[in-house]
Amino acid sequence: MTVSRALFVALSLSFAWELGYSADPPKSADPPAKISYYKDIRPIFAQHCNGCHQPAKPMGGYVMTAHADLLKAGEREKAGVVPGKPTASYVIEQVQLHDGKAEMPKGRDPLIPIQIKLITDWIAQGAADDTPASAKAAPIDASNPPKYLAPPVVTAVAFDPKGEYLAVTGYHEVLLYSAKDYKLASRLIGISERLNAVAFSPNGERLVAAGGSPGRFGEVQVWNYKKENLVISAPVTFDTIYGASWSPDGKAIAFGCADNTVRAIDPVTGKQILQMGTHADWVLGTVFSQDGLHLASVGRDMSMKLTEVPTQRFVDNVTSITPGALKGGLMAVDRRPVDHTPRQIRLFGAVVRVPREKRMQKVPPDTPGVPPKVYDELIVAGSDGVPRLYKMHREQKREIGDDANKVREYEKMPGRISAVVFSPDGAHFAAASSLDGKGEVRVYETDTGKKVVGEKVTGPAYTVAWHPDGKTIAAAGFDGKVWIHDAATGKLLKEFVALPTASAKAAAAR
Ligand code: HEC
Repeated sequence: MTVSRALFVALSLSFAWELGYSADPPKSADPPAKISYYKDIRPIFAQHCNGCHQPAKPMGGYVMTAHADLLKAGEREKAGVVPGKPTASYVIEQVQLHDGKAEMPKGRDPLIPIQIKLITDWIAQGAADDTPASAKAAPIDASNPPKYLAPPVVTAVAFDPKGEYLAVTGYHEVLLYSAKDYKLASRLIGISERLNAVAFSPNGERLVAAGGSPGRFGEVQVWNYKKENLVISAPVTFDTIYGASWSPDGKAIAFGCADNTVRAIDPVTGKQILQMGTHADWVLGTVFSQDGLHLASVGRDMSMKLTEVPTQRFVDNVTSITPGALKGGLMAVDRRPVDHTPRQIRLFGAVVRVPREKRMQKVPPDTPGVPPKVYDELIVAGSDGVPRLYKMHREQKREIGDDANKVREYEKMPGRISAVVFSPDGAHFAAASSLDGKGEVRVYETDTGKKVVGEKVTGPAYTVAWHPDGKTIAAAGFDGKVWIHDAATGKLLKEFVALPTASAKAAAAR
């Protein structure tokens, strides 16, 4: 076979499976092109197998994340890959189609024939490991935990609903601290290099961490964190993912993707249950309505959009769609945790009084026959540094140029805002910003816009979380330090470096 033909076959093969199409097998009797483990096989395993076959979750006792492990046997004591012998390789037996079904990937759609053929041919060709030396570092897992030369950039922190733990993103792991003394309680090490979001489930039993490896894969991890047990590792898209949030009933986890989609998975099965694709750029933040029927998402396309959860339908642009109305991408969104329905609302232009008993739960339906909506408010912010409060649901018809859902704008913070979060009672919100290597954490009164706290911190601040007792906030960012502030006075109560090693002390002293 000529080089150009080999190249053509390899290209068309890789395009075909990246797009999920099956293609015709090569027509001639030429031997198959030389198949690369690193470029062709590893991505198939990453997308379809590693969620259940990785060091933190070795189902059937079989690990597939590193080449050396592929050759080993799992619980059934049959080697997964026997170089040169596809028929003796258990992996091939497990992915083989019988009446359109296969044993593996368990409970998922089977691999497409061209992928099965690639794996078969690769094994027949000797199953060589062509991983470049630069990518060959020992795989990171609980027995070989990540080592830090410098404190990690912290992109997300979160308190659990009982206020017992603070989760902090590290490199390849979530660092779980006790929220009493801020001592490290456990390290949740997974396959994603970078984690962009952490969030505890509403009942506090699970922790979601979302991230991936840039340009390779995105991943949603669901941890039974008290047992350090990875329950779900769901692969999503070919890039890192962002802004994970739980539905109030704990039955869905939403997140944003670099392919401009907003998606949600079932936290028990890992299966995708929602996908909405009307954003025009990366989606960076998500939050559900109080009744879980709507999902708000924000992104680099400067817009906040609303999706109806049961139908996965895009229903509205919450922010103005007038060009130039918003300046810069939106990076963060949070929903006011309790209903703050005002005494009067405007409904299609008319002022309507909301009876006291309804005020704390529902507003009248905007169309007869449609069930009443819960009144929800959202805080959004991004690269223009201005936090804004919006009503989630439109109460009057859209007119060109309107920004009718906007309730209020707040004082501009220096630089860009990467995180906004409401206090547990919704009366305040906190925001974290960064500009030219500096950062600020602020607290505002939601209904008046009054600044309660404005604290400069040692480095750019990327994330902020509110303790469920409402009294303290945790923030962190570029320099790996976690700052615990009094939410009413701004006083710095505690500062520590998110380094899981003895060198933490040395770094803190620097
Ligand atoms: C949703 C989880 C899940 C996914 C995804 C998955 N597996 Fe499995 N796999 C399992 C479980 C569970 C077992 C244990 C045996 C069983 O339950 O059938 C297993 C067992 C195996 C075994 C046998 C190990 C042994 O010795 O018992 C092989 C080989 C295997 N899987 C290969 C694959 C391959 C290849 C893929 C991707 C194409 C894949 N699996 C994807 C869950 C999964």
